[in-house]
Amino acid sequence: MNTAHPSGWHFIDSQGTFELQNPQQNSYVYFPLLNQAGMMSSITPRLNGDAKLGQNAFLLLPVSAEDLHNTRSARNFWARIKGQPWSVSGNSATQISNTGLDEQVTLQAGFLWHKIDRHDAPSGLRATVINFVPADDQSVELMQVTLSNQGEETLTLDPIAAIPIFARSADNLRDHRHVSSLLHRTTCHPYGVLVKPTMTFDERGHQENQTTYGVLGCDGDGHPPQGFTPLVEDFIGEGGSLDWPAAVLTDQPVLQQPDSTFEGYETIAGLHFPRINLAPGQSQHYILILGIFQPGQNLEALIEQYGSEQNISKALAETQAFWQEKLGTLRFDHQDERYDGWLQWVTLQPVLRRLMGNSFLPYHDYGRGGRGWRDLWQDLLALLITEQTDVESLLLGNYAGVRMDGSNATIVGLQPGEFKADRNSIPRVWMDHGTWPLVTTKRYLDLTGNLDLLLAEQTYFRDHLSHRGQRVNHQWSQGGDTALRAVSGEVVKGTILEHLLVQHLTAFFNVGEHNIIRLEGGDWNDGLDMAAERGESVAFSAMYAGNLSILSDLCMALVGAGVDEMQFNDALYPLLDQLSNPVDYDSVDAKQNRLAAYLDDVRGALSGKKIRLSLEAVSHDLTQKANWLTAHIKEQEWIEAEPGLGWFNGYYDAEGRRVDGKHSQGARMSMTGQVFPLMAGIASEEQTQAIIQAANRYLYDQDLKSYRLNTNFGTADLPKLGRAFGFAYGHKENGAFFSHMTVMFAYALYRQGHAQEAYHILGGLYQLSQDFDQSRIYPGIPEYFNPRGRGMYPYLTGSAAWYLFTLLTESFGVQGNLGSLCLAPKLVKDQFVQSDHISVKTVFAHRDVVITYNNPSRLSFGAYCIGDVTVNDTEIPVPPGIDSVHFTREEIEAWPEHVVIKVGLSPL
Ligand code: G1P
Repeated sequence: MNTAHPSGWHFIDSQGTFELQNPQQNSYVYFPLLNQAGMMSSITPRLNGDAKLGQNAFLLLPVSAEDLHNTRSARNFWARIKGQPWSVSGNSATQISNTGLDEQVTLQAGFLWHKIDRHDAPSGLRATVINFVPADDQSVELMQVTLSNQGEETLTLDPIAAIPIFARSADNLRDHRHVSSLLHRTTCHPYGVLVKPTMTFDERGHQENQTTYGVLGCDGDGHPPQGFTPLVEDFIGEGGSLDWPAAVLTDQPVLQQPDSTFEGYETIAGLHFPRINLAPGQSQHYILILGIFQPGQNLEALIEQYGSEQNISKALAETQAFWQEKLGTLRFDHQDERYDGWLQWVTLQPVLRRLMGNSFLPYHDYGRGGRGWRDLWQDLLALLITEQTDVESLLLGNYAGVRMDGSNATIVGLQPGEFKADRNSIPRVWMDHGTWPLVTTKRYLDLTGNLDLLLAEQTYFRDHLSHRGQRVNHQWSQGGDTALRAVSGEVVKGTILEHLLVQHLTAFFNVGEHNIIRLEGGDWNDGLDMAAERGESVAFSAMYAGNLSILSDLCMALVGAGVDEMQFNDALYPLLDQLSNPVDYDSVDAKQNRLAAYLDDVRGALSGKKIRLSLEAVSHDLTQKANWLTAHIKEQEWIEAEPGLGWFNGYYDAEGRRVDGKHSQGARMSMTGQVFPLMAGIASEEQTQAIIQAANRYLYDQDLKSYRLNTNFGTADLPKLGRAFGFAYGHKENGAFFSHMTVMFAYALYRQGHAQEAYHILGGLYQLSQDFDQSRIYPGIPEYFNPRGRGMYPYLTGSAAWYLFTLLTESFGVQGNLGSLCLAPKLVKDQFVQSDHISVKTVFAHRDVVITYNNPSRLSFGAYCIGDVTVNDTEIPVPPGIDSVHFTREEIEAWPEHVVIKVGLSPL
């Protein structure tokens, strides 16, 4: 990929390590650190950011993006040079006001560690600070500070760690900040400062607290500090501040010793290390362990484990190896260091989101740790690509969240398959939720061919809500069992196929006045939350139409595998109307009535009766529905603006008005409204061309060279859809360059065979992301770009999973087909800028597979066919002129553990 002027960071190896000069001159950058034990940190170039185990267990002060440039409560480490305070993080009043004048700062970061190097020219002191969360089972963040004298005179230094310990729930940031400090019991440990609150009070009520928060420290040989200043008010001194603190200014501060205790104050880990004389060329290490400890935890053992230069280096090397291995299963090689390195960071992102949800990084200040249904399934999609874990049980578990009314539990627990009843008195049903499980499940089936998953049984979720969140089931009370039962009291189970049917059949009948599926509490766009009554989503009606046809095919695949009939809960029968009592699909009333009867039927306990149905008949029913919906959208929702230029209407608003189309204030067009008709194959080739033209005219931004989510609907006569249209135009869900939908636009165009346009979109997103002068983000794809081109909400975004999925399955064409492998590349010549061959390493059928495409003539999709093919150097005969090559499961299973497939692309 041609990157004219790489700016900002650059990679310094092929392992994703990047370097950035003077990173502190960027106000909103941050970096994630975490492990599978649940420790989650964010860190900025000035070592600001927080560390926590969850919403209710913050070790460091919780930060939002706007707190990042206020570095006062950041991790800090002081070296008093000749009596003058100097901060290794640049957080002293003099350094802050002097930024960039005396100090050269370099950031290096990799998977998953963060290193800042700061050099104070006048004194010759260099500080190197490495932070990482070790890839083990400890809930700690480690910080190693190395002070080196690169000057010509011996330096006399007083090293002092200064890390404020928040030790409570993020809710207490404003709510009872002071009163919650009265719960704090602060103790000096031989190696550091600990806080154990007596109780917690937050939204969970008053509870006895068991957790201890603390910072332990030692020098590189394991020697403890010589004393402590454990209270913030003593550390800063009257009138002082954290960036000019009394405890650092004073030559001989009064130090506390181990076992000193204090009750009811704000705490800081003020760890004073003995004065050192550092001769020119000499270095001294300090190790800090920032941790959240459980009862009975042996803290001395932690010092043993990490508290020496050797041991912390070992922990760092293990952490780096852990992440390299984890990310090593998917690797693109365009022989383009910047693009390939960037893709490695995109590969990390779905892992981060699976561990952090949409919470715990500074921009995600709305998240409390819960995970959304839609994101849960899309993160699994990435897991299928990037990890070799037991995805089947995760898939199965997640289906336990489906309600019999087609909606689903919205509070997702931490354990796979754990769902909780909604405590919210205003329940919200997102109408798109039913579509995502099939996308992920289909990918699983394509990769494995394991159709048995569709026959596996799972329970259904129930709570106090019925009728898709419209009514309350008074027979159920909070704290009750969340498994749906039959009148007999037995837990109801249904196959995974049945769960999928429940989601899609209910949606099909749940139409509004235009015979389009109702918007309810929103769809993919979380900001469309104010049109529950009359709103309709054409976009996701198209997605349901496509899914209905996929489901129909899956039924036939089961028939092909010898499963002619299956048992279903009898309640579902009326929704499979073509089998007995057809509904007039043109009639909104008829559909609503059929659904209403069904929702009444399943509001409480089920009959428990099962019926056997022919899968061929079910498949036929689904095809009828898919065809009807497809034709309906195509006819009713197409807007022909002028010859050769048109697009689909995406929505009806709260007043039943069509949203997209010509308008007195200018054309209204949404990208979402196009993506799903394209993806589902509803758009004809002519319509696809017309959509591309319209998108280029109305959504494409010439400056940022990317597409917006929607045109500016103005302020007067807004479409009444939701809060998104209260957002400033160009931001977030109102017309931003929203990566997730943009990537899905590319995916949809690939599906239609428009590889050139699709790759242009993927390439554009990369260019925007990597253009550091504008995006000001580290490598990776952000949720969106604001009108100034700044990358917003980096790391935690579903767009990462979709970017990888699109590049792998569409561009590189590495597709599964119910267990067989199909290579159907849709590559374009821009992908062969650096080299005439590009490759991808992935996993298929438990084998490491490297696929290389040789394209000596640098041809684009449409101009090439598959030429010669070799598998581990053995030539495979292929017929001339084909555009894809297939390997059956039997063939693949005969392959060894490592497979190299080379595919030549020849002129057609
Ligand atoms: C976020 C949410 C996603 C939602 C989207 C649009 O996108 O996580 O569930 O559909 O906003 O409202 P993401 O952060 O995944 O890019």
